[in-house]
Amino acid sequence: MKKNKVFVACDTTDIKKIKRILKETQNKNVIFGYKFGLEFLNSKNGRKFINSLKNRITFGDYKFSDIPNTCSSAIRAISDLNFNYLTIHISAGLNALKAAKKVSGKAKLIGVTILTSLDYKALKEIGFNKSVKRLVTHQAKLANKAKLDAIVCSAQEVQIVKKVFKNEIITPGIRLNTSSDDQKRTLTPKQAYKNGADWLVIGRDITKGNIKNNIQKLINHLDK
Ligand code: C5P
Repeated sequence: MKKNKVFVACDTTDIKKIKRILKETQNKNVIFGYKFGLEFLNSKNGRKFINSLKNRITFGDYKFSDIPNTCSSAIRAISDLNFNYLTIHISAGLNALKAAKKVSGKAKLIGVTILTSLDYKALKEIGFNKSVKRLVTHQAKLANKAKLDAIVCSAQEVQIVKKVFKNEIITPGIRLNTSSDDQKRTLTPKQAYKNGADWLVIGRDITKGNIKNNIQKLINHLDK
């Protein structure tokens, strides 16, 4: 049977907490990768710690969004960290995506579509008038054009993304319980895999409280 794959969002600046996450997510039923976002990557000891990691699937969630030259220079500047996955906002534009892809080397380059914390109302506020689904489809086509290796989108959009993008699909905004925190476009792990997600990103539902219990809850939910 295909193993479920989960990126744990390591959203903290506390190295001790990260070490605990790494230790307590050892599990034979799930393949875990580790996503380091802006909080950890900008922390004092973050870079050094990532350099010391061995034999882990790592994901640098930099969400680059800048002019092509700055995006590609930044990717070159972190090449020593040997991330397996890196993110760039698709809204940075086709030329930035192409420039980033040119220098990303062995790292898989992931295009981030509309953030899962945004809904139609929030998009209108920043000047977008298309529906979330139409915007995400549009961006997925651009990711395809730039030959990106993966896409981040809400699990609610996996099926429409699959029509125009054939590589990996990674979905944050995953919730086991009813509390969605700051996320707007959420689904359960089971629904996300059913829709065809290759990887889920789960942060607080794993890292808050007892990590081992949270993982067991996740496995029970998937087995049901
Ligand atoms: O705690 P939670 O499961 O909501 O964490 C989700 C993680 O995924 C966070 O690290 C967040 O930065 C990231 N993310 C997201 N939505 C995106 C892209 C990344 O929530 N569209």
